[in-house]
Amino acid sequence: MKVDVLLGLQWGDEGKGKIVDVLAPDYDVIARFQGGPNAGHTLEFNQIKHVLHTIPSGIFREDQVNIIGNGVVIDPVIFMKEIGKIKAMNIDISKKLLISKKAHLILPSHRILDQASENAKGKTKIGSTLKGIGPTYMDKTGRNGLRVGDTITSNFKEKYQSLKEKHKDLLRLYDFEYDIEILEKEWFEGIDVIRQFQLIDSEVVINSFLKQKKRILAEGAQGTMLDIDFGSYPFVTSSNTICAGACSGLGVAPSAIGEVYGIFKAYCTRVGSGPFPTELLNNTGEELRAKGNEFGATTGRPRRCGWLDLPVLKYAIMLNGVTQLFMTKADVLTGFDQIRVCTGYKIDGKIVDHVPYELTEISEPVYTELKGWDKDLSGIRDIKEIPAELEDYIQFIEKETGVPVTFISVGPDREQILIRKP
Ligand code: GDP
Ligand code: IMO
Ligand code: MG
Repeated sequence: MKVDVLLGLQWGDEGKGKIVDVLAPDYDVIARFQGGPNAGHTLEFNQIKHVLHTIPSGIFREDQVNIIGNGVVIDPVIFMKEIGKIKAMNIDISKKLLISKKAHLILPSHRILDQASENAKGKTKIGSTLKGIGPTYMDKTGRNGLRVGDTITSNFKEKYQSLKEKHKDLLRLYDFEYDIEILEKEWFEGIDVIRQFQLIDSEVVINSFLKQKKRILAEGAQGTMLDIDFGSYPFVTSSNTICAGACSGLGVAPSAIGEVYGIFKAYCTRVGSGPFPTELLNNTGEELRAKGNEFGATTGRPRRCGWLDLPVLKYAIMLNGVTQLFMTKADVLTGFDQIRVCTGYKIDGKIVDHVPYELTEISEPVYTELKGWDKDLSGIRDIKEIPAELEDYIQFIEKETGVPVTFISVGPDREQILIRKP
């Protein structure tokens, strides 16, 4: 068996959580492979909305095992709160959720360092979610980090103290007031909650699941344009969000990757700072934000909105080896007379159709216009009922990218999904 990978092709928030929840019944195992509580994955059923930050989005299905892989960074406080919410729904997840011993821990001092660093950057700030992601991955690659497996060793407290002292030294570089101790009680309560779960060598478990012919879905966080290597650096996150991240974040060989589901919104959004070529700083942008309810699931910040960017989509498809495209939020485009799609950029007066070294080199996006539609899509459950203009839009994307669009999402609920066999 192979591991199928589901990931975002834009700047995050493509609707990955919803789609994982939709696909989960077809899998035995759902595994998150990178990122941490900077992620906010929303899914809806029975008129209730759930937002997950650390826990894989298969958790609300009956029979699936959910794994937090080694590539993920965990904040015990946020994790404890997520667990509390799920338990309040009378869902017993003690056997359904497994945690990699090699996943790194976000300390209170990582969060403070994140805030101090962003604060010092002033106008050039990344627009981080301030969850401590950057400092935690820095400690991972700097070989200083604390891992989940450390929580069950006898000298865990000493390891914690030693890293905290290092962080205090670093914090002297900043003009930033903080109080770590006030945050520690809750943090250690969170550690106790983590210890109640099965802490595993997830790479061994996942590979043995593969041998047992179990079906595994790897759930990405963030999006390709936030990838540490290929995103709009430095306005990115600190992990590999691309398909390769599923190999290193779960311990599966590249040859074990099967389908790669690329999730993209029918338009584009971005939260935080950084270049965004198709951003609409006008009424159309406002309309997309209002109709799409584009406010961050983690921070509540308004998301910046713009038209679909094909060079970005093609770049992401190339980097990830996407085999199927899933379009989300098609319903949000209802009511626009014309829909614009960026097919290239103007750079130094020349038109290019690829993502340049820096997106800031782009002076202007080049657009193709397609006809919009008025039909409300939210109640459609059969692909045959979609308006011809939407079908044209999808076919245009398929022609440009060479990849089939196999699922169309027409609303936040798990039932609002159309299967498309081109
Ligand atoms: P993720 O981070 O990729 O899981 O996405 P988020 O949960 O951060 O953001 C996606 C938002 O869009 C959430 O509020 C979802 O409930 C919502 N959503 C997902 N798919 C659709 C869709 O097809 N139509 C509409 N209108 N909303 C959707
Ligand atoms: P999901 O999984 C959208 C953005 C932040 C910021 C940059 C760096 O829900 O799609 P970080 O906290 O990692 O230091 O922030 O990346 N960002 C996201 N944007 N969706 C996310 O996750 C994001 N995770 C981080 O806004 O610009
Ligand atoms: Mg999100």
